[in-house]
Amino acid sequence: MSTREQGGPGATEAAIKRWDGLRIVGQRDFPGVAQSAGAARRWVLGILDGHPTATETLETLELLVSEVVTNAILHSDSAGPDGLITVRVGLGGGLIQVEVIDDGSATSVPAIRTTDDDSLSGRGLSWVDRLARAWGADHDDEVGGVVWFRLAIGHPSGHDPLSSR
Ligand SMILES: Nc1ncnc2c1ncn2[C@@H]1O[C@H](COP(=O)(O)OP(=O)(O)O)[C@@H](O)[C@H]1O
Ligand SMILES: [Mg+2]
Repeated sequence: MSTREQGGPGATEAAIKRWDGLRIVGQRDFPGVAQSAGAARRWVLGILDGHPTATETLETLELLVSEVVTNAILHSDSAGPDGLITVRVGLGGGLIQVEVIDDGSATSVPAIRTTDDDSLSGRGLSWVDRLARAWGADHDDEVGGVVWFRLAIGHPSGHDPLSSR
C-alpha cells in the first residue's frame, strides 16, 4: 500500500495555501472500500478526544467525513481493495480542517448537484457547502483529487462565538 507523503508531491501550492495557519495533527490511509467511511469517521472523531468540542461540531464532522469519504470511494479511481484514500486532519485558530485525498477521476469532478427534494443522492456536497465554514476541491495530476473542509470547533456548551452560522 503506498502512502502520500507530506512535502512530497502532495505539497503543491494549493496544499500549502490550504494549510496556512493550521497544523496537521493526523494523516491516515484507508482502503477504497465502503467500510472506510465509518473507519475514517471514527478515526477523525478520535483525534478530537480530549479537545473540548461542541456537540454540533462533532455531529457535523461525522456527517461530512462520511459523505466526502463515500464520494471518494464512489466517484474516484480509489474504488476497490487496491485503491487508497488519505485523510488528513489539521487544527488551529479554533478550526478543524479535514481533507480527503483520492486517486482522482477521468470522468468526474466534485461539484454540487441540483437535486429535487425527494432525491436521496446528490446531497453530500450540498451539506458540505451549507455546514462547513469553508470548503473546496483541488485536483493535482500527481496526487489526485482533494476535497477539504473546515469547521469551527466551537465550545462544548454549544455556544460558538467564532461561528456566524
Ligand atoms: N471525490 C470525487 N471525485 C470525483 N467526483 C466527485 C467526487 N466527489 C463528488 N464528485 C462528483 O460530485 C457529485 C456530487 O456529489 P454529492 O453531492 O455527494 O452527490 P452523490 O455522491 O450522491 O452523487 C457526484 O455525483 C460526483 O459526480
Ligand atoms: Mg455523495
